[in-house]
Amino acid sequence: MSDAPPVAARALVKRYGDIVAVDHVDLTVERGDVFGYLGPNGAGKTTSLRMLLGLIRPTSGTAQLFGRDPMLVGARALDGVAGFVEGPRFYPYLSARRNLELLADFDDDVPRSRIDEVLELVELRDRARDRFGRYSHGMRQRLGIAASLLRRPQLLLLDEPATGLDPGGMRDMRQLVRRLAGEGITILLSSHLLAEVEELCNRVAIIRSGRIVYEGRLDELLRSAGSSYRFVVGDAERARAVLLAQPGIEDVRTEGDGLRVHGDERAIGAASVALGQAQIEITALVPQTATLEELFLGMTEREAAA
Ligand SMILES: Nc1ncnc2c1ncn2[C@@H]1O[C@H](COP(=O)(O)OP(=O)(O)O)[C@@H](O)[C@H]1O
Ligand SMILES: [Mg+2]
Repeated sequence: MSDAPPVAARALVKRYGDIVAVDHVDLTVERGDVFGYLGPNGAGKTTSLRMLLGLIRPTSGTAQLFGRDPMLVGARALDGVAGFVEGPRFYPYLSARRNLELLADFDDDVPRSRIDEVLELVELRDRARDRFGRYSHGMRQRLGIAASLLRRPQLLLLDEPATGLDPGGMRDMRQLVRRLAGEGITILLSSHLLAEVEELCNRVAIIRSGRIVYEGRLDELLRSAGSSYRFVVGDAERARAVLLAQPGIEDVRTEGDGLRVHGDERAIGAASVALGQAQIEITALVPQTATLEELFLGMTEREAAA
């Protein structure tokens, strides 16, 4: 394999009539990344992944996988690459195992023993005889990943793998992603949940209305987003006045039975001492994760200020 990065998209554009679904997207995924492609519904995630997988032709721009462009070299660009968008496709009336056997038979390099291995990896070995049509959404997603793993890929592209799953299914999916990353597979996964990307990914690109608004390390993004804390206090009205008088406290908002306070760690520490001195009881102080919407708001405000 070349030294080229697993994914390199440059000025990738996809138009559908008047809609610009993907608007000059640059993406670089490095070896070993668990890369989060984060954006709200309709942002252009699936369309981007379709272009990366060579399923649709870009209007302009290029996409390369390990240095190979599927538009130029065809299926060969997908050597060592696997994945699916918007849910995997299988024959509903055949068992999960039979579906995998059919896929393995397409390919001389995949021994039958690999089928048991991948079923084991996604924890479907006990259910391998069930028809695919009877599978739950979570089991379908996991079987999709099992199929992707048959050929031992080095890069896995997953389109919102945990979306639509119940909490248990989400937890299983996240564990699976972590396990695969631990085996050295580079992963690009899309999501509309910041918390999910935060839990799994080291690097992230945020897409909004077809455009990348951030690409880089996740920890730096969260730092730049500014931290916030939730205070639950005895006397919210008095607490608000005390907090607002503190240096470094940027914003105090009522949220449910508490106060959402924006400020860095040191300011929050000083503020909690000030509350104590004012004889205001703190019953809870919890660091909060920014939501995707808050990140966007911060970005828009910074753009407006620039
Ligand atoms: N085949 C298509 N024809 C017309 N518009 C499309 C098509 N596919 C996607 N779009 C539009 O492109 C935008 C991005 O869609 P998509 O990539 O599916 O977003 P995401 O996966 O982030 O939810 C949306 O406005 C969607 O309606
Ligand atoms: Mg999508």
